[in-house]
Amino acid sequence: MSSVKFYKSEEQVPMEMHKVRVVQKLYLLPVEERLKRIKEAGNNTFLLQNKDVFMDMITDSGVNAMSDNQVAAMSIADDSYAGSETFNRLIKAIEEVFGTKYFLPTHQGRACENILAETFVKPGMFTIMNFHFTTTKAHITRMGGSVIEMVTPEGIEPQNDVPFKGNFDIPRLKQTIKELGAKNIAFVRIEAGTNLIGGQPVSLQNMLEVAEICKENGILSVLDASLLQDNLYFMKTREAMCKDMSIKDIMHKLASVMDIVYFSARKLSFARGGAIISNNEELILKMKGFIPLYEGFLTYGGMEVRSMEAMAVGLMETLDMEYISQGPQFIQYLVDELDKYGVPMIKPAGGLGAHVNAGEILPHIPHDQSPAAALATAIYIAGGVRGMERGTLSEQRNPDGTEKFAELELVRLAVPRRVFTLSQIKYCADRVKWVYDNRDLIGGLKWEDEPSVLRFFFGRLQPIGDWQEKLAAKYRADFGDSL
Ligand SMILES: Cc1ncc(COP(=O)(O)O)c(C=O)c1O
Repeated sequence: MSSVKFYKSEEQVPMEMHKVRVVQKLYLLPVEERLKRIKEAGNNTFLLQNKDVFMDMITDSGVNAMSDNQVAAMSIADDSYAGSETFNRLIKAIEEVFGTKYFLPTHQGRACENILAETFVKPGMFTIMNFHFTTTKAHITRMGGSVIEMVTPEGIEPQNDVPFKGNFDIPRLKQTIKELGAKNIAFVRIEAGTNLIGGQPVSLQNMLEVAEICKENGILSVLDASLLQDNLYFMKTREAMCKDMSIKDIMHKLASVMDIVYFSARKLSFARGGAIISNNEELILKMKGFIPLYEGFLTYGGMEVRSMEAMAVGLMETLDMEYISQGPQFIQYLVDELDKYGVPMIKPAGGLGAHVNAGEILPHIPHDQSPAAALATAIYIAGGVRGMERGTLSEQRNPDGTEKFAELELVRLAVPRRVFTLSQIKYCADRVKWVYDNRDLIGGLKWEDEPSVLRFFFGRLQPIGDWQEKLAAKYRADFGDSL
């Protein structure tokens, strides 16, 4: 993908190295309808119906486009409760791509986290990670453990363009291990492509150092490889030590130094499902019993066999730089367009999606009025584009019930891989720019119904005042009869 140069270099755009052979019709509702739909959805973009959404940018999870080879492989799935050939093909693909011996199948990424937490986290124990992910933290705290974050300070500076903002702060990690004592640390978790701080990558060098520190201290090292695909692209394009390594070399190296690797196949491998893999039989045996208990038999783990076939092929496609470049290059394009328009963005562009800095755009809305969720509703009203809040609303409250204000208030515009065309990405940038120019009209939100666990998924909110009506009226005035 990246090696195609345009004759007129000023017109260079990212170019897809695939063609579209199956399409899905999209509908763009008039702005008045969009206003109604977001209200019906309790101002939570998760509660919108897909039929009411023009560009679904809420996530990259389970919505990536499959290749012809994935679809073809699905048709030869071997459906049996135990011992299916599909499982054998999948484990072979995992061996090839990661070089690991053992594999426990799960229905998706958070199921791996549930099993890891049940097996290794005891009340009062700590888990250290570059940054938490929502479901990871929920499983760890449910077991009575706590999470300590150790990303380098630059990681949470929105405009700091160091290339690996997801890196661990190594001196702090060493110091914290000394202070807490290795026996009180359930595991150290490296999250590739750090989700909550803008899809920012971790360098190979940093991952190797963390694994080494864990080894020296007898602490379990765990890699969450759910967002590894984009992270691999950044390692290859930004890190000197990866220049002469193939994608497979990098994946093998990582899997050889980590005690456990797990991932959501809804992300890594353009499929559905999840996996825990390792070279350590003893660790696998500790977790194995939970698979039939929570997931399904050991040769399907809650996955549908057709998904397992898609996963096997998708993992092999992860080794193809032309496939894995598409996501990060489209994200880069979207971030660059918005940056040109003056919209505050998380930079440099990461993986997973473009991250709009709602905190900076809406300084007049305090954390407890959900600025990022308010901006996400405004973007839906303006363009039928469904992003998601990544800020205080996505946090858990503190044990005493007070709000834990997020370091960053972001709206994530995920770019599912191989799904959108460049004109759609341009449209998205255009509507976000309009929202930005009308930011003074945007007000806050307040809770109407707040669930106690993972509230961002299904909580309902109300606007404070009639700012959404004013925004929709301004849109109509500016755009005339355009949808
Ligand atoms: C880094 C990371 N880990 C784990 C998960 C959980 O995976 P799943 O959605 O398949 O449960 C996600 C999902 O977004 C993720 O981004």
